[in-house]
Amino acid sequence: MRIDIFSIFPEMFTSPFGASMIKRAIDRGLVEVHTHDIRAWAEGKHQMTDDTPYGGGGGMIMKPEPIFAAVEDIRGADTCPVILLSPQGRVLTQPILAELATHDRLMFVCGRYEGVDERVRTHLVSDEISIGDYVLSGGELAAMVVVDAVVRLLPGALGYENAAAEDSHATGMLEGPHYTRPLNFRDWEVPDILRSGHHAQVAAWRRRQALLRTLQRRPDLLQTAADISPEEQSWLRQMGYTGPFAAKSASKTDLSQGRKGRKGEKAGRN
Ligand SMILES: C[S@@+](CC[C@H](N)C(=O)[O-])C[C@H]1O[C@@H](n2cnc3c(N)ncnc32)[C@H](O)[C@@H]1O
Repeated sequence: MRIDIFSIFPEMFTSPFGASMIKRAIDRGLVEVHTHDIRAWAEGKHQMTDDTPYGGGGGMIMKPEPIFAAVEDIRGADTCPVILLSPQGRVLTQPILAELATHDRLMFVCGRYEGVDERVRTHLVSDEISIGDYVLSGGELAAMVVVDAVVRLLPGALGYENAAAEDSHATGMLEGPHYTRPLNFRDWEVPDILRSGHHAQVAAWRRRQALLRTLQRRPDLLQTAADISPEEQSWLRQMGYTGPFAAKSASKTDLSQGRKGRKGEKAGRN
């Protein structure tokens, strides 16, 4: 995958993309990340990238010409998605990330100040993404969030196969608890089942913990999770869940079988 990011502060990306999972993915050739300074396409002695708003009011607006010039120059004839980071965009979810991860190339435009000239939204970008219902001072942090979450979905980016598929939200629910050594930390012991060596029982325990955690913290997710079996549904009812389940929620999975055990438990995955 190739990722192009347009910003007036491209230096902000150096540190987050120079460490950990993204750096490994870049080093392995799974992704190329190119940051572009919009100012390089701004004209005039001062290379202005913003101006005052028509109609008055406070704040500055990012000018359309340098953003169009930068994106069109780098994109060439490519028809890849051009995504504006915006608090007015569709709110980011795991299914949106899964869809983005299918593209060979993605472009991100980062706004600043009061945002970008409306013509960027209406005539240049193909999508707008928000990372939540709050306002940042610029699109750079939002782009980092989206890029991190997309890159970890690329095959080979994480420490072991299927890691991302088992995460919270990838399954439509929350993941259960994790433990590592020491066995006993300040008298808090790791649950016996995790030391049993019985893979099917461990998987069943994990599945039940994931259901319980979702019930306790995000019961709204149980309404849309796609693979809650009839046995699991009746168990959740016993545990106090009163809401609806998704229509297609029946599956082969039940609490006695659990899910496939995790591979390579010790692999790093940050
Ligand atoms: C201060 S914000 C502008 C907000 C704009 N005046 C509005 O009310 O919609 C400046 C830039 O930060 C980015 N931004 C702010 N909040 C964001 C969010 N929740 N998700 C994605 N990008 C965001 C956008 O690129 C935006 O153009």
